[in-house]
Amino acid sequence: MKTSSKFLVDLIVWFLLLGNVLSNEYTTFNKLVLPPNVTGPASAALDRGGKGPYVAVADGRILKWQGPTTGFLDFAYTSPNRTKKLCDGTNDLKLGAICGRPVALSFNYKTSDLYITDAFFGLLVVGFNGGLATQVSSGFKYLSGIDVESYTGNVYVVDASLTYNIRDMTQPGFKPDSTGRLLKYDPRTQRVTTLLSGLSGAGGPSVSSDRKYVLVPEYVNNKIQRHWLQGPKKDTNEVFLTDCGNPKNIKRAANDGEFWVAVEKQVQESPTLSEPHGIRVNGSATVVQTVPLPHFFNMAIDVVQESNDALYVGSSDTGFVGVYTN
Ligand SMILES: *[C@@H]1O[C@H](CO)[C@@H](O)[C@H](O)[C@H]1NC(C)=O
Ligand SMILES: *[C@@H]1O[C@H](CO)[C@@H](O)[C@H](O)[C@H]1NC(C)=O
Ligand SMILES: *[C@@H]1O[C@H](CO)[C@@H](O)[C@H](O)[C@H]1NC(C)=O
Repeated sequence: MKTSSKFLVDLIVWFLLLGNVLSNEYTTFNKLVLPPNVTGPASAALDRGGKGPYVAVADGRILKWQGPTTGFLDFAYTSPNRTKKLCDGTNDLKLGAICGRPVALSFNYKTSDLYITDAFFGLLVVGFNGGLATQVSSGFKYLSGIDVESYTGNVYVVDASLTYNIRDMTQPGFKPDSTGRLLKYDPRTQRVTTLLSGLSGAGGPSVSSDRKYVLVPEYVNNKIQRHWLQGPKKDTNEVFLTDCGNPKNIKRAANDGEFWVAVEKQVQESPTLSEPHGIRVNGSATVVQTVPLPHFFNMAIDVVQESNDALYVGSSDTGFVGVYTN
């Protein structure tokens, strides 16, 4: 081969590789801004038609993104005593028993019902028209995460602790314990069963796309555990991934069998600063992609949700949902 044509081939190969890398880097950033004074979109769920995101915010509402001209509008709320006058725009947890504090969201894609965990009102569900959600289970300390498995309708939730609630967590000197649990709610029997206990700082679980297992993150322990739902290891648990940073929430990725995990990694030189990342892991616990989320530097990120080639990033610290695209 002549030098010049070899050079041309190299150049083409190089461009192809570059194109491949660039198309998967999520380097473009946009904000979906919440209404004035509204903060803490700790979740970002998309419905069956890819509409949304739907976000659970600090003032007790679930808002739905209606596009750039309209922005976010009210979709649902969790407390029967909530008034817009008292609650809209608040982030005062002392009002939580009146206003509600929805935390995590997950759709049943078969029925279009939206399941909600609320720090004060437990597990709730609302239909596709929104409005006041119906409480389906209560008596928890702090339901921090949720995933609905649409095929059976089973709802997997995490109760972060047997001892502390969301208000205790904001007190000075707060130390998380190791009494968190992964629970299953069966909507047919309305029974709650414990699948895994002894969790520390547990966040949002995720069922695999083949429904064989559920992953649960432990923020404090830098660890993800796997609970088997089917197969030879049914009803047993194992460590899935360690040393991945502090994982908050796990969501199924667009690729079958893969997940996006919202993690915070401590900046090496400064233990008080954290660098948030989205990591994509496959069913063998291989990290196949790491995406830095620079616009959330030193903020608490809660969720990385993939939809339509975008990563939606929710954070209890912000007045916006971040969207990373290619
Ligand atoms: C936002 O909060 C400020 C300070 O509490 C208040 O003056 C203002 O009216 C609020 N804006 C809206 C739209 O609620
Ligand atoms: C709503 O307010 C009424 C009247 O104050 C009270 O009896 C009821 O317990 C409240 N409901 C909830 C869910 O807090
Ligand atoms: C996960 O990724 C690794 C590395 O690419 C690969 O060897 C492994 O087969 C993958 N596992 C699954 C379940 O896809």
